Amino acid sequence: MGKLDGKVAIVTGAGRGLGRAYARRLAVLGAKIAVTDINLKSYEEFDAEAKSMTGDSTVAEIIAGGGEAIGIEMDVTDEHAVNAMAEQVMKTWGRIDILVANAGGGRGRPVDTKASTLDSALLHLVTSMNLYGTVYSVNAVAPFMKQQRSGKIVTVSSVAGLGPSTDGGYAHYGAAKAAIAHYTRYLAQDLGPHGINANCIAPGIITTGRIMATVMPNQADANRDRTETVALRRLGSVEDCAKVVEFLCTDLSDYVTGQVIAIDGGMIRSV
Ligand SMILES: NC(=O)c1ccc[n+]([C@@H]2O[C@H](COP(=O)([O-])OP(=O)(O)OC[C@H]3O[C@@H](n4cnc5c(N)ncnc54)[C@H](O)[C@@H]3O)[C@@H](O)[C@H]2O)c1
Repeated sequence: MGKLDGKVAIVTGAGRGLGRAYARRLAVLGAKIAVTDINLKSYEEFDAEAKSMTGDSTVAEIIAGGGEAIGIEMDVTDEHAVNAMAEQVMKTWGRIDILVANAGGGRGRPVDTKASTLDSALLHLVTSMNLYGTVYSVNAVAPFMKQQRSGKIVTVSSVAGLGPSTDGGYAHYGAAKAAIAHYTRYLAQDLGPHGINANCIAPGIITTGRIMATVMPNQADANRDRTETVALRRLGSVEDCAKVVEFLCTDLSDYVTGQVIAIDGGMIRSV
């Protein structure tokens, strides 16, 4: 018996990286998984992600492991597409127990996205992918969870949403992720009386293919050893985050809601 047998989970942005790890972990626990992404083969964009795949999609990997999964391609910035995705999951499995609103990320370089010179197109794009995508995903599943009088929602902020970078770069991303963290506190108050938990995770530097290929080399201080600022003296793995998602999606966290949990190895940003 798995802890999540009979449960249905939606993971957005599950084609690669952290979302893929969340989808795979929840599947191992017994949940049926809706793997959603703007591109279900997004792993092809980064060599490290492509090399880590053991099937031609996250869905194929879950099925090969004995789990149940469907793949739905949709853009979280498109409210109608997000609603249609939730309807399709309901039609397929008749319930929605878990949402991990993971799709998002940054765009642009930290050195080009300082708080006082933010490009409006980048601001719009990153706010849409992260904040709007999260709100649309929650709006789409909440009615079904309310009917069931149960549900677990995990939203995704970042340490960048908890405190600023030292040079004010990546301000658009930090602001969108801060908004997600605070939105989740409101969400917990709104949904708590319906028996639904809502919590937020704030990962630190996690070694996904995208981060290692694009973000790390573009830091102003790219040559510095990034582990110096991490108490545990290592960068995070996708599994470090998936373990906390497991906690927040299972009965271990039944009396935890409205929390923002940093998964950053004890990182200090202000040095
Ligand atoms: N990796 C880190 O160090 C780190 C740190 C803090 C927070 N995060 C957050 O964790 C989440 C996942 O990060 P990651 O490193 O795995 O990113 P990633 O870019 O590797 O994966 C993101 C996935 O989301 C999908 N996606 C992007 N835009 C989408 C959209 N509009 N609609 C649907 N799907 C979309 C992509 O195709 C991709 O598969 C993001 O929200 C990111 O901001 C990551």
